[in-house]
Amino acid sequence: MEQQKRYGHFDDQHREYVITDPQTPWPWINYLGNEDFFSLISNTAGGYSFYKDAKFRRITRYRYNNVPMDNGGRYFYIKDGDTVWNPGWKPCKTPLDFYECRHGMSYTRITGRKNGVEASVLFFVPLKKWCEVQKLTLTNNSSDTKQLKLFSFEEWCLWNAATDMENFQRNFSTGEVEIEGSTIYHKTEYRERRNHYAFYHVNTEIQGFDTDRETFVGLYNEFADPQAVMEGKPRNSHAHGWSPIASHYIEVTLQPGESKDFVFLLGYIENEQDEKFEAPQVINKKKAHALIAELDTTEKVDKAFAELCEYWDALLNIYKVHTGNDKIDRMVNIWNQYQCMVTFNFSRSASFFESGVGRGMGFRDSNQDLVGFVHQIPPRARQRIIDIASTQFPDGGCYHQYQPLTKRGNNDIGGGFNDDPCWLIFGTVAYIKETGDFSILDEMVPFDNQPGSEVTLFEHLKISMDHVIKNLGPHMLPLIGRADWNDCLNLNCFSWDPNESFQTTENVSEGTKAESLMIAGLFVVTGKDYVALCKKIGKADEAARMQQAVDEMIEAVKKHGWDGEWYLRAYDFYGRKIGSNECEEAKIFIESQGWCTMAEIGAEDGMVAKSLDSCKKYLECEHGMVLNNPAFTKYIYEYGEISSYPEGYKENAGIFCHNNPWVIIGECIAGRGNDAWSHYAKILPSYVEEKYQTLHKVEPYVNCQMVAGKDAARPGEGKNSWLTGTAAWMWLTVSQYILGVKPQYDGLQIDPCLPDTANDYTVVRQFREAEYTITVHPNGHQKGVKQIVLDGSAIDGTIIPYTPGNHTVEVTM
Ligand code: GLC
Ligand code: GLC
Repeated sequence: MEQQKRYGHFDDQHREYVITDPQTPWPWINYLGNEDFFSLISNTAGGYSFYKDAKFRRITRYRYNNVPMDNGGRYFYIKDGDTVWNPGWKPCKTPLDFYECRHGMSYTRITGRKNGVEASVLFFVPLKKWCEVQKLTLTNNSSDTKQLKLFSFEEWCLWNAATDMENFQRNFSTGEVEIEGSTIYHKTEYRERRNHYAFYHVNTEIQGFDTDRETFVGLYNEFADPQAVMEGKPRNSHAHGWSPIASHYIEVTLQPGESKDFVFLLGYIENEQDEKFEAPQVINKKKAHALIAELDTTEKVDKAFAELCEYWDALLNIYKVHTGNDKIDRMVNIWNQYQCMVTFNFSRSASFFESGVGRGMGFRDSNQDLVGFVHQIPPRARQRIIDIASTQFPDGGCYHQYQPLTKRGNNDIGGGFNDDPCWLIFGTVAYIKETGDFSILDEMVPFDNQPGSEVTLFEHLKISMDHVIKNLGPHMLPLIGRADWNDCLNLNCFSWDPNESFQTTENVSEGTKAESLMIAGLFVVTGKDYVALCKKIGKADEAARMQQAVDEMIEAVKKHGWDGEWYLRAYDFYGRKIGSNECEEAKIFIESQGWCTMAEIGAEDGMVAKSLDSCKKYLECEHGMVLNNPAFTKYIYEYGEISSYPEGYKENAGIFCHNNPWVIIGECIAGRGNDAWSHYAKILPSYVEEKYQTLHKVEPYVNCQMVAGKDAARPGEGKNSWLTGTAAWMWLTVSQYILGVKPQYDGLQIDPCLPDTANDYTVVRQFREAEYTITVHPNGHQKGVKQIVLDGSAIDGTIIPYTPGNHTVEVTM
């Protein structure tokens, strides 16, 4: 394997990824903000900000799929004599003497140097504040006095990111701004129904400004050479209609060795209806002034930054491992947990692959994301569960998506994805095991957000299970509905019309026989969880009822779901096998192997071992396991979108990373540590980072949704980085199954599954009101705990009973 070009490296001590070449193979981004105000920022300062909802409250504008790539963002232009440059290289692309971008935990620091001047910008969103801070430090490292002209730049979005990009007959006439001192206010549509505005402020006197884009840039110029900047002359333009922007102009004199800080603030404000204006047409700026006052000095900003860092220290202290292998430690202790939090915050809405205008929060996605952060912020997980359950229908079906701003189910997509209900059990059980908070089961939760329809959350779980049982097909396997986890296996949509959606067109569901083995496995796994929960809370009858349903499902899978060497994937509309050796293409699929092995269906008959072997034999390649094999080479209208993708991409034989951990967990449950580890390392970002920065293309510090499979043009090329269920599943896999520290109702279960080369390691785990320091001695074993010594005394079994306080645990395998 030839050494690929590198664009950066990990700095574990600072929990940063350090990018040293701005021309990464794709924009390498980071996320700012943790609760309400969010930003995306690329390694060249591209990206945008929004408040809560990337579609309805977009604060700054971003044009996706642009030429050049990643155009638009928060830009600082420095004019030093005839040279104009940006600290992040773009958009001017003036060659820099030095460039560095450090992506850290909810912050990014970009530093550029040119002709003796250093410009370093720290970007972050302070905790609990509705703003992005941009602290720019200019330093003169030369021996001459520098007279610099500094221009800032942000472009406002007209709030609704979708109409902002299409409704120009209106948009070009609505733009409005106000300028007051060093603050530029964006108030488009504030005069009518909006009670919010945004502002861009700097904590120093300015010598000019611009708010009208064409005046600033020039109609035939670009972000790379805005006229005002090139001429070194702001126009003091007032936007009215057209496209409002915000640009400050500051003249800076720096003596040799001198350094100056500038705090720029991009803020968002909401006002009460009767307090919107301070005078006719003049917006009430009281709250903006107050926010500015909280962050108008370097000291205040540094303090807010220190608080953010402490917040992350606390979050990352909850589960820490020391294995001595940097590649594992940095993923477990830093990046995997960080990605889980980002994915929780953003669901699938806003990335450089998700435009923020399409999907809201997914029902199944959010439940899975939850297991990635429930140990860090249980109260938010609790709220998320209630929000999700509130979009369920009385029959147990669910809205497939909901809008975070309104928390309402999304009517455009509706329901009918028959795996959805099971995921509610998955998420809720994970929450209770982490926290011991059974009271969530008694919360009153409505259906479809209708007041008056409330029943307990437990009742929601019950009807979720029932929804599966009440929708069984001819083989007593779950009917698939519009699709199961694989949104592209559309067995009830026979479409020859390119204008139809594969997901929402269900033109042949009447009389369908389409069944899913993936849901069958998922039902058995979550059904066992449900049964255990019922027993735990004294509902013996309900436990027995559901145990029977689970047993019947297991029998149905053994009888109708086994193909000889692996589990079938599904039955189609006509009751024909999918994912069988009898099929011409796509003889084997990964999802049912993952779920049925996790469910241990037919383990006693060798099915689990055979299925796992088949994954290695038919699905595994250099970069991970592909979703199906062989890939579809033609469109099959009975199968839908899956066969619409060219070979090796997405759901058609791509390495859809999300499902690899299912098989890896299956391996762990079966005790095959070497196999589990080799699958895991193939998609572990730190291993990919070491070998494939150029090929992989996307950010090397997080997982992406999809890596091109062996049948693609460039196997190993990553796409759809950041927002993927892969993050939570990788976390579950490594924290609970490989390193083997698993929350249970009564304590922590220790049951690692490791490669036989594993060394001793230590996990420090905060759990409820306790902290456990757990040292594992594998002694060359892949699985099987011989003895656990808790605070000096041996215990029976593998569960450390929970008691508050600090504990030491020695585990011998
Ligand atoms: C996307 C969707 C997820 C779906 C997966 C497989 O990641 O967000 O809901 O399960 O694709 O199709
Ligand atoms: C497409 C994608 C799939 C996603 C679905 C819903 O079908 O291939 O991954 O889940 O859209 O957005």
